[in-house]
Amino acid sequence: MGPTIALIDSKKLDKNFSYLTKNIKNNSKIIMIIKANAYGHGAIEVAKKFDKKIDYFGVANLQEAIELKEAKIKKNILILGSISNEEITDSIKKNIIFTIYDLSQLKFINKLPFKRIKFHLKIDTGMNRLGVSINEIDKILKIINMNTKLNMEGVYTHLAEADIKKSSFTKKQISLFHEIVIKIQKSVNRIDFIHIANSSGILNHNIDFCNTTRPGLMLYGLGTNKNLNPVMTLKTKIIKLRDLKPGESVSYGRTYIAKSKKKIAIVPIGYADGLPRSLSNKGYLFCKGNKCKILGRVCMDLTMIDVTNVLSPKIGDDVIIFGDKYQSAMDIGKSAKTIAYDIVCGISKRVTRLYK
Ligand SMILES: Cc1ncc(COP(=O)(O)O)c(C=O)c1O
Repeated sequence: MGPTIALIDSKKLDKNFSYLTKNIKNNSKIIMIIKANAYGHGAIEVAKKFDKKIDYFGVANLQEAIELKEAKIKKNILILGSISNEEITDSIKKNIIFTIYDLSQLKFINKLPFKRIKFHLKIDTGMNRLGVSINEIDKILKIINMNTKLNMEGVYTHLAEADIKKSSFTKKQISLFHEIVIKIQKSVNRIDFIHIANSSGILNHNIDFCNTTRPGLMLYGLGTNKNLNPVMTLKTKIIKLRDLKPGESVSYGRTYIAKSKKKIAIVPIGYADGLPRSLSNKGYLFCKGNKCKILGRVCMDLTMIDVTNVLSPKIGDDVIIFGDKYQSAMDIGKSAKTIAYDIVCGISKRVTRLYK
């Protein structure tokens, strides 16, 4: 095992899950979002842990769904994103549920020879990303009602700014979706899963008419809510130390030049591991409780930090990138001018995940 590891704390996952259940209705169903390798936390490990506790897993595409099936995950899997017609056929054969987000896909499945085709319908209410348009709903209902093989098990939409507590746009999206749900329920016998809320939707908005939620980020302990516990700690170790004289430079492009004597440490983590290159000369890592500035450009596999103020640093000393009691993935995201999602999803596969 290399020195750069992502520690995944199962107890914190449990705590976040119980905070989730406290914040949803008792009988509310859960589609646990574990796309992008469970936001970098390990989709198979997370799925195994929650297979008996939730109703569905949500992934981005067929490949992610197949990985879970191959790992013998029992719960239903919903593909939330991109799916080609060929993949739709494959999903049906593999008993993987997919999202219909375009009318052409419904027309395609309407002609397929399978006995039962289960899917969720995504409706666009303002995100202008995936989802059928509201003015297509009548046509859609007509097709579904004329073909008993089509089993629309769920309907959903996605909020564009659920993180803003008093957003009038979110209110509009919710009420628009409610109207459509009422219309669909009048026309179609039973919809088992009605869902809209991601983590911020759950924590910030009251959405009574839905019976299902789609949490992702909050389970991994990220977001601004103080009750959440970040699950991942990303750490590495010092592999080399050197002393700089005034005037000496560090890393590619010589963007850092020492003004005074400096002690620097080299750590084996770079942008290929998921440490954003935009933290060059800007971000901080932690060694023995000290905030150590990144000096020069972050390289593909290595980064240099200032350990001048660290008491007798040694090869093998731990360096924390985020987690523990130090900065969070959100702080790193802020310094890198991005979001925590981007940081944790970007931790690449060569970083060993350790579960405790
Ligand atoms: C359609 C959909 N639902 C739910 C989620 C989960 O969102 P969050 O991680 O903010 O809880 C996502 C995440 O991107 C998503 O794309």
